[in-house]
Amino acid sequence: SLPKNATIIEVGPRDGLQNEGKTVSTEAKLEFIKGLQAAGVQEMELTSFVSPKWVPQMADAKEIMANVEKTGRQFVLTPNEKGINAAIESGAKAVAVFVGVSDSFNQKNINKTTKESMDALQPLILQLKEDGIFVRACISTAFYCPFEGAINPEDTLALCRTFAGWGVDELSVADTIGMATPLESYELFKKLKDAFPDMLMTAHFHDTRKMALANIFAALQAGVDRFDASAGGLGGCPFAPGATGNVATEDVVNMLHRMDISTGIDLDLLCQAVASIEPHVSNPVQTGMYRLYKNR
Ligand code: HMG
Ligand code: MG
Repeated sequence: SLPKNATIIEVGPRDGLQNEGKTVSTEAKLEFIKGLQAAGVQEMELTSFVSPKWVPQMADAKEIMANVEKTGRQFVLTPNEKGINAAIESGAKAVAVFVGVSDSFNQKNINKTTKESMDALQPLILQLKEDGIFVRACISTAFYCPFEGAINPEDTLALCRTFAGWGVDELSVADTIGMATPLESYELFKKLKDAFPDMLMTAHFHDTRKMALANIFAALQAGVDRFDASAGGLGGCPFAPGATGNVATEDVVNMLHRMDISTGIDLDLLCQAVASIEPHVSNPVQTGMYRLYKNR
């Protein structure tokens, strides 16, 4: 049976904007974040502390952190010790780390093999947990890799098991290039829910092939009740060729509400937040619910 409530982890300000070609002002980002919070978003990736040479759009992470309301669970994404230290200094109480199941993707994304990344992350995560920080582990290329093709689900499970052993609070399992089918979504999330029944388990779907909503429904049936989504469907990973935006928050919220699953998010206010960022990004927002909102 389906859950009565689901949690949206809004990733628009981070995953949504990191790949945006136009420089988005800090002010516009802050207004977007404020609008999302006003819409009832309780968990969000606010920004990322990464190399500004690799991801110029996130160069204002410090200014973002200094000026946001940190109510609810507000994440910053970081790949390494430098980023984690900066995140903690900025007042973050929740940190998201990321690693790819596939070596070739991980090399392109953070210039390390998966094993090198994991070896470096272990002491950092143990320290974060000792310091009482909420740790979310994002698992990229959990289904498919843009360079290696299909991923063996056992490899994804093994990576998750390692993170679970280090005491992370949440696993966010990602279809980085939006290639998974609903059957694959169900099968992997069923395995993950069976293996880690007490872990906060989150599904992160990019909507490259327009299967994200179907994949979310499949994940719901496997027992998942947490979904990463990006308002306006913005975004994509700059180091995954062909990757487009995340599934649109407004379309996920609409689908869940229509199935009597509460999210605590006000759809109208959410669309208002999308309207505030739309003039600052390169492409018009084309998501189902946002178009209805604009044309009514
Ligand atoms: P590198 O060049 O191997 O590292 O990059 P380095 O240690 O030689 O550092 C290079 C420069 O970056 C140095 O500066 C460092 O100080 C600086 P320089 O001395 O040249 O002036 N630096 C940093 N600056 C700010 N914050 C930091 C940081 N670390 C180093 N944390 C590195 C390695 C990891 C830094 C680089 O590869 C990087 O920043 N990668 C980030 C890539 C990224 O942000 N990808 C997108 C996010 S992941 C994603 O979108 C997937 C997800 O959504 C799930 C899914 O969909 O799959 C989560
Ligand atoms: Mg992503």
